[in-house]
Amino acid sequence: MININHFNKSKMKVKNQSVDININKMPGKEQHVVSENGNDTVYESPHDQPVHDGRKEFEGQIAVITGAASGLGRAIAYKLLNEGAIVAVLDINKKGIETGFKKYKEKSRTFHVDITQEELVNNTIDNIIAEFGKIDILVNCAGISGAANILSHEVSSEDLHKVFEVNFMSSFYLAKIVLPHMLKMNYGRILHMASIAGKEGNAGMLAYSSSKAAVIGMTKVQGKEYAETGITINALAPAVIRTPLVDALPERQVKYMTDKIPMKRCGTLEEAANLVAYIVSKENSFTTGFTFDLTGGRATY
Ligand SMILES: NC(=O)c1ccc[n+]([C@@H]2O[C@H](COP(=O)([O-])OP(=O)(O)OC[C@H]3O[C@@H](n4cnc5c(N)ncnc54)[C@H](O)[C@@H]3O)[C@@H](O)[C@H]2O)c1
Repeated sequence: MININHFNKSKMKVKNQSVDININKMPGKEQHVVSENGNDTVYESPHDQPVHDGRKEFEGQIAVITGAASGLGRAIAYKLLNEGAIVAVLDINKKGIETGFKKYKEKSRTFHVDITQEELVNNTIDNIIAEFGKIDILVNCAGISGAANILSHEVSSEDLHKVFEVNFMSSFYLAKIVLPHMLKMNYGRILHMASIAGKEGNAGMLAYSSSKAAVIGMTKVQGKEYAETGITINALAPAVIRTPLVDALPERQVKYMTDKIPMKRCGTLEEAANLVAYIVSKENSFTTGFTFDLTGGRATY
């Protein structure tokens, strides 16, 4: 028997009285106690049917992932593959995607593409649609850091342009060409890879931090624009996860970023892939335009 006086009365707006709920009468069913017009009502959980019917989470879904030759993109692609998705991976590193997805030939397609070239991106998506007829998931993960550990007046315009092309423009190109296909289905999940640098601004990384701030801005706009369409568009802001991108940074810059993590450790690829799998799942249906956190406590907003 549950005594509802254990619950927070002001929040639950429940009068000072006891209601006995025999949970044995409803095996396996969650109980919600709410009050409407002073009457205490017991609702069954909407999840009283099993969420999974034994199928894998992404069975029958087509996922497009950029930057999957390495690091986070590859870990995310493997996670979605293992959960049943067919993955189409785009990367400028031909060898990386070919060797990385060799053993998943039936469930993957590799595309050697520079995603800063809009026409190439469009042709690739056309090919994916021609073969599979739809795209359920888009993960924009490809990214570069650009020059780091330098002051803003030392940043070259060329480097800044390049970083924006890879980190921001390509995500715009991919979303632009994929969204009409998702609109036709009234369903889709888009994830743009941002960074804590985009929220806070890492000193020494003007180009990178600004490009990721732009990604967060785009996510907010797109989340609202497509909010009523069944498509959700979110971002993820990790702190430091050891990958080739981080290893290429000056050690001083890496120390600056890692020292700010309250958990006093880097994130792992598995932690990133697990969170992404949730963000792009059907279950994540009431969150859009949001930047999820993966920073070991660094971000408090
Ligand atoms: N590792 C971290 O600590 C960290 C933290 C925050 C955000 N991120 C973001 O996560 C994403 C993945 O980073 P990572 O650490 O896995 O890096 P990574 O270097 O391991 O992977 C990046 C991938 O992007 C690909 N790529 C780069 N330019 C491309 C282009 N023009 N066209 C196609 N592919 C291209 C690379 O070939 C590579 O496979 C990036 O957007 C990065 O900014 C990483």
